[in-house]
Amino acid sequence: MSQEDIQHRLDTQWHKIKNMKIKEIYETMAYGPAPENADEAIEFLESHQRSFKLFINGKWTAPSSGDYFDSINPSTKAHLAKISEANVSDVNIAVSAAKKALPEWVNIGAHKRARYLYALARQIQKHSRLFAVLESMDNGKSIRETRDIDIPLVARHFYHHAGWAQLRDSELKEYKELGVIGQIIPWNFPLLMLSWKIAPAIAMGNTVVLKPAESTSLTALLFAEICKQIGLPNGVVNIVTGHGKTGAEIVNHKDVSKIAFTGSTDVGKIIRRATAGTGKKLSLELGGKSPFIVFEDADLDSVVEGIVDAIWFNQGQVCCAGSRLLVQESVADKLYKKIKVRMETMRIGNALDKSIDIGAIVDKGQLNTIKKMVKLGVDEGSTLSQPSWSCPKEGYFYPPTLFTDVSPSSTIAQEEIFGPVLVAMSFRSHKEAVKLANNTRYGLACSIWTENINLALDIAPQIKAGVAWINCTNVFDAAAGFGGYRESGFGREGGIEGLMEYLKPRINDSFTDTPVKLAISKTDTVKNAEVTLGIDRTTKMYIGGKQARPDGGYSTVIKSAIGSYVGDVSKGNRKDIRNAVEAAHSNTNWSGKTGHARAQVLFYLAENLAIRRDEFANRIVQMTNQSTKKAMEEVDLSIERIYYYAAMADKYDGKVHHTIHRNVTLAMPEAIGVMGVICPDESPLLGFISTVIPAIAMGNNVIVIPSENLPFSATDFYQILETSDVPAGTVNIITGHKDELAEVLAKHDDVDGIWYFGSTDGSKAIELLSADNMKRTWVNYGKYRNWLDKSHGEGEEFLKHATQIKNIWIPYGA
Ligand code: NAI
Ligand code: MG
Repeated sequence: MSQEDIQHRLDTQWHKIKNMKIKEIYETMAYGPAPENADEAIEFLESHQRSFKLFINGKWTAPSSGDYFDSINPSTKAHLAKISEANVSDVNIAVSAAKKALPEWVNIGAHKRARYLYALARQIQKHSRLFAVLESMDNGKSIRETRDIDIPLVARHFYHHAGWAQLRDSELKEYKELGVIGQIIPWNFPLLMLSWKIAPAIAMGNTVVLKPAESTSLTALLFAEICKQIGLPNGVVNIVTGHGKTGAEIVNHKDVSKIAFTGSTDVGKIIRRATAGTGKKLSLELGGKSPFIVFEDADLDSVVEGIVDAIWFNQGQVCCAGSRLLVQESVADKLYKKIKVRMETMRIGNALDKSIDIGAIVDKGQLNTIKKMVKLGVDEGSTLSQPSWSCPKEGYFYPPTLFTDVSPSSTIAQEEIFGPVLVAMSFRSHKEAVKLANNTRYGLACSIWTENINLALDIAPQIKAGVAWINCTNVFDAAAGFGGYRESGFGREGGIEGLMEYLKPRINDSFTDTPVKLAISKTDTVKNAEVTLGIDRTTKMYIGGKQARPDGGYSTVIKSAIGSYVGDVSKGNRKDIRNAVEAAHSNTNWSGKTGHARAQVLFYLAENLAIRRDEFANRIVQMTNQSTKKAMEEVDLSIERIYYYAAMADKYDGKVHHTIHRNVTLAMPEAIGVMGVICPDESPLLGFISTVIPAIAMGNNVIVIPSENLPFSATDFYQILETSDVPAGTVNIITGHKDELAEVLAKHDDVDGIWYFGSTDGSKAIELLSADNMKRTWVNYGKYRNWLDKSHGEGEEFLKHATQIKNIWIPYGA
């Protein structure tokens, strides 16, 4: 059925209702359809003869393959337009255009960029009805949502980032743009995802090649016209349409400096692996199975409306949908009844009907996925509830669905369905609620419902998720960061955290391609090396607060820079790493300590190192053959560096975002969890201190692989740890072959993050192997810092990588 046919049908129905007697209307209480006018959107399609080219370098460009594919209206299956399939040469042309546009876009400065972003925001507002209608036609989402939620948020995003563009030179001086950004977005919020990607990227001085999802390219193409209208310089924004292959060409292009992706976890993992070792910055916003937790004191009527917003908003095709309902047992049956009553009253239909709650599923494939998952749920023994009414037949519709009697390990409780399907489970205690909530490989969002603010704020930090909504759900704003933990991906969009994804520290340009060489001074060395000769002792490792012999029983001889014997070091293996990870996990109180408490431990650590200053300097001399003076300098700098992180432990804190709703949003930096830290090979003590201390200052527990050739400063350090109240399991030290051990850590499922300072190949291996559980990684791509230089070796950059931000939305104000 064509758009015009639908329009005609809606008009006829409206005519019928108009002619009903008032009494009849009262009796039936039937709503009339309230069709939105689609004329302007159709006009837009016709202005391109319903056949869209690529938008490259400010011009409409035919795809070099000559291939097109169809975009349809899922409410009616009507054909809307032909869309170009971009291939590798189109992507090459688009990336070159973006690259060419870059210097001028950087040079025009912050204020001019701000004006362009402002102009985009204004034009989107002016054309908001057209955008909303086109989006509803192309995606199937209700006009009520596109008109009241998607498009206003898009404009808000450009306004907010017009502000950031203006502030870049004053607030973010230490950072610079990345270059050409490749962006790949999904179909569930087509224009909104475009704005989340493009606004911060161009505000910070980057240029963009963006690929919309194949089923929903139209609003991106309309946006391209807006770019033309406001006179955005050619090449700053390029829109290339196509399928996954086109996306892959963008990912693999050598001139792209960063990939920002939103979509499925599977494709996220492909992209993580494809970009491993290339130095491309990456942010991934992937799937979820977010818990919606209802405590017995919650206002159940509000909860029901919350559930409507959590799982039936956008037909449940929302990455952060509250798809797992966890409800306290005492109110579970009561709530299920209320949900079923509410389901019955939901209205489903053509996305352009202003009086519907639920529109169409994006396409046939997604509809089939939902059907398959629901069948699986029934087969697995869960109880299915659906409303008594049936869905319209002409489009891709699926009714609101509730599953009860669900076992936490069943497929429908673990896998993302991405449809209007709610899966309910009950819990008894608060502890059980947290356990159930975290029983998932994802960690995007959670929603917590209780009238007790103490309870809500007790639970929020315990849920492993990037967003926590208290007595609300699915609220978004440009001022607050959004993004996940674990397999929901990494990086944030929105807020200052989101901007950081499009910037790099200026200091990075001064790192070198080879490690900094330490100057050898032989006289001192010989004297000190002689002292150790004859002492036959293999240095042990340190696991769970105890010295540990290596599982394999092997050791390695360590020689000094001029070849004299220094000592034997344990050769750790896979088993030792496993034990260390276990020890790190069994320490559950370090991350829960206040910043002040951690600061005290760190100051104490520095004090104890200062007491043994000579001994540690001596060790450095033995291994590196530096002069005593140089070694003393390294120890002193190490002490100072510990002071810096002790100072920051209670000062590196979050923000309170003023979001547009009746909320305040707390942006809280949280520890990553259990981290692997692979130390640099240079500066045996300072390299160890500079990487381990910031990680533990933020509450992480770490497994440390010290410098392979200069390990003794680290292994000696256990004595300092033991005398400084560092709890067992917070710092675990495993010596041995650096890259071998690093790979074991990168593959380990219970390691949440990994830092690697070493070779180019080692960096690549870490990024590649960490994709399985989507660890946060920070690697140096074979670029070396001078650890003695403060601007290289310490600072907030280290703390940023040691934390992830959770945004907690709290009702606030009138
Ligand atoms: P998808 O992840 O395949 O598609 C997202 C975007 O990535 C699209 O633009 C697509 O063309 C592109 N793409 C696909 N393969 C690519 C590759 N190898 N390299 C680069 N780009 C590539 O998601 P799809 O197939 O549309 O949906 C499948 C499932 O993914 C859904 O059922 C849902 O569970 C999940 N999903 C999650 C989203 C989220 O917002 N987190 C959004 C869309 C889907
Ligand atoms: Mg479509």
